[in-house]
Amino acid sequence: MKFTKILALVLAVVMCFGILAACGTKPAEDPANDANETADAPANDAKVFKMGTNAAFPPYEYKEGEEFVGIDVEIATAIAEKLGGTLEVVDMEFDSIITAVNQGEVDFGMAGMTVTDERLLEVNFSSSYATGVQSVIVAEGSEIASLDDLAGKKIGVQLGTTGDIYATDDYGAEFVTQYGKGADAVIALKGGDVDAVIIDNEPAKAFVAENEGLTILDTDYAVEDYAIAVKKDNTDLLDDINAALEALTADGTIDSIIAKYIKAE
Ligand code: ARG
Repeated sequence: MKFTKILALVLAVVMCFGILAACGTKPAEDPANDANETADAPANDAKVFKMGTNAAFPPYEYKEGEEFVGIDVEIATAIAEKLGGTLEVVDMEFDSIITAVNQGEVDFGMAGMTVTDERLLEVNFSSSYATGVQSVIVAEGSEIASLDDLAGKKIGVQLGTTGDIYATDDYGAEFVTQYGKGADAVIALKGGDVDAVIIDNEPAKAFVAENEGLTILDTDYAVEDYAIAVKKDNTDLLDDINAALEALTADGTIDSIIAKYIKAE
């Protein structure tokens, strides 16, 4: 009798310590440990992570009614949850995103954004979560059949994108027309205002699928890495994002999000 009482007491003490230890080992800054806090049940102090993006870039970010959807939106939501918070999407012009990151208007930029040496002078990038390829869209039956044929032709691009930068470098600014959205460049192509559009391959496929009479040239203009842009001095967040990305890659979350939006051919 006495022995069982002592045993019960010892067990109770051990359990108390166990609970204390469990609480003590869940530091807020450990992203990998926050699996319990989901968007449905955020902690009181849950952080709202603001993502700067340009939601006109299917399948990475676009709007379905009032809702923001796409690969980047879902990956960012998963990252925010891993970090014990929730995601807020802040929609803006693509060429404003890096400024918004550096002015602290958003916590990070995620917009199918390519890592480039020039951008690395302004922001840090996370590890890459996807690959993009610059593609060329032309009208069906166009005389443009290769990259060389683009010389002297009118090229439409989205302002401030790598497609814009490469087209300007390779073919000359006077031949390049910049549009606020990729979709507007595609409308210009349909209307005959430009002869070709240079844009990332997955949005290119989405735009061609939505518009009759367009086709994508069988050429890869440039292969690129997409990553998340973070303010240079915000290395804690960069580390947290990279840890979350690593965990979400390891458990298959990233692959399944990408597979949901990009069907294998
Ligand atoms: N990958 C290209 C770049 O980084 C285009 C990205 C455009 N993204 C967007 N959400 N509009 O320049």
